[in-house]
Amino acid sequence: MRIKAVVMTMVVVALGAGSAYAGDAAKGQAIFEKKCKTCHNLDDSVKVGPGMKGVTTRRADEWLDKWLGDTKGMIAAGTDPTVVEIMKGAKVKMPTVKEMTDAANRADMIAFLKKNDGK
Ligand code: HEC
Repeated sequence: MRIKAVVMTMVVVALGAGSAYAGDAAKGQAIFEKKCKTCHNLDDSVKVGPGMKGVTTRRADEWLDKWLGDTKGMIAAGTDPTVVEIMKGAKVKMPTVKEMTDAANRADMIAFLKKNDGK
């Protein structure tokens, strides 16, 4: 009986770790390769947009989630101080990437960006 309880606990913990909320860095990486790499490097060098190194330290998860989910809307609103800052002198506006309108995909992307930052 006790062993059964331990096994059940392990199953619950394992399922919890794989939940959509935690984000899957490998899935995030696959989307990055297809949809973001054309404009962003993973180190700190500028390509079309800023390098992704350190982005999860300079920006909060909530901000990244909001930015990726509605990039165009945030740029159009022009009220978020971080958006105002990163738009200064920008030649290209980041588009809303279709995959990022899905919350689970955003969680995967944020998990990947954190991994890239060694977190
Ligand atoms: C067409 C080019 C382009 C594509 C594609 C693109 N971005 Fe961007 N991104 C930019 C630009 C340019 C900026 C700077 C803000 C602006 O000018 O819109 C930016 C800003 C960002 C920022 C904020 C950086 C900071 O220092 O605060 C993040 C995070 C980001 N992009 C992530 C992504 C991710 C993840 C994807 C793929 C899902 C993606 N971008 C796709 C061009 C792009």
